[in-house]
Amino acid sequence: MTLKERIASLIAVQGPISVAQYMTLALHDPQSGYYATRDPLGKGGDFITAPEISQMFGEMLGLWLAEAWEQQGRPQRPVLMELGPGRGTLMADILRTLKAMPDFRKQLDVVLVEASAHLKRVQEETLKSAGVPLRWQSQFEGEAGRPLFLVANEFFDALPIRQYVKTPRGWCERMVMAQNGGLNFALAPLPAPASLIPESRAGAPDGGFYETAPAAIALAEAISRHIEGNGGAALLIDYGYGRAGFGETLQAVTSHGFAGVLTEPGKADLSAHVDFTALAEAGRRGGAGVHGPIAQGELLKSLGIAARAEALATRHLVGEPALQTALARLTEDEAMGQLFKALAFLPSAAMTAPAFAEADHAAA
Ligand SMILES: C[S@@+](CC[C@H](N)C(=O)[O-])C[C@H]1O[C@@H](n2cnc3c(N)ncnc32)[C@H](O)[C@@H]1O
Repeated sequence: MTLKERIASLIAVQGPISVAQYMTLALHDPQSGYYATRDPLGKGGDFITAPEISQMFGEMLGLWLAEAWEQQGRPQRPVLMELGPGRGTLMADILRTLKAMPDFRKQLDVVLVEASAHLKRVQEETLKSAGVPLRWQSQFEGEAGRPLFLVANEFFDALPIRQYVKTPRGWCERMVMAQNGGLNFALAPLPAPASLIPESRAGAPDGGFYETAPAAIALAEAISRHIEGNGGAALLIDYGYGRAGFGETLQAVTSHGFAGVLTEPGKADLSAHVDFTALAEAGRRGGAGVHGPIAQGELLKSLGIAARAEALATRHLVGEPALQTALARLTEDEAMGQLFKALAFLPSAAMTAPAFAEADHAAA
């Protein structure tokens, strides 16, 4: 049975499922889920992420983490954690950069939070000679008493969302149904309780969407709470928006192109734009100081990516045209520079976050 057939049988037994449940099955079903069965970033993969474009991305994040550790007075026994490490490329680049900060690097325990057994094996291979203690968790869990230095790139966009659609009878949840051998969307007949819908959605037209990612919000709050209580810093980078519109953002991608969300569950990546306002609010509820979001281009430029590109070119470590292309893809507004954003959590006592000073100043 294909995953699509299994989902259809599940719906026949239990009734329509939420978009969040559909995403979870399509991405993580142990037998046929998208992440469970493949390396989407590998050669001939479905999409490419910033660390796979250039080592400079991870190098800049490594500098950011090291600076945050310095700023907090070099706290002892730090944990370095990455959520959703993909091929392990970002962590490898961060750890190589931290060789310039041996006092930080030598104390680190590295934790990789990965749901996919397949990708865990890829990460083990990438990081086998990293020379630091590594361990894997399938879910986020901070270690009590230890400061947490955390990065997540293109992780929050993969967390399941629920969708609600404005109708004349109220906001109805969008569900996945099974009919005539196919899957299709349909609205729940009864509206959701009004208390579920934030006031900011009040002006939505009929047919307007409200998307929410409960798992992402709970996770952001838990990370923030850990950092506020134990020290550390988190840098969350993803594609998304600062202020939600009324459109829907759930998308399926395969072979570098868009596909139908319900067409072949397990065969295409599913993701949704990250609501940075909701993550920032969750961060504030957790107690940490929240900085940003700022555009990825701004983050990387203020961390010195242009100088790094020049240094690599001078030392002929990477060809000049390839470097310039990578730099443009990562930083320019028309490429990833603006759509991708970065949000930082630091203990509330830390007044500034590396590279976020201008945004903090503007928000004050
Ligand atoms: C789009 S990839 C990003 C990979 C990497 N961060 C990069 O930038 O190249 C998403 C990663 O998150 C993992 N992932 C997705 N959902 C997850 C979940 N709920 N729990 C743990 N890992 C998850 C995937 O298996 C994959 O490693």
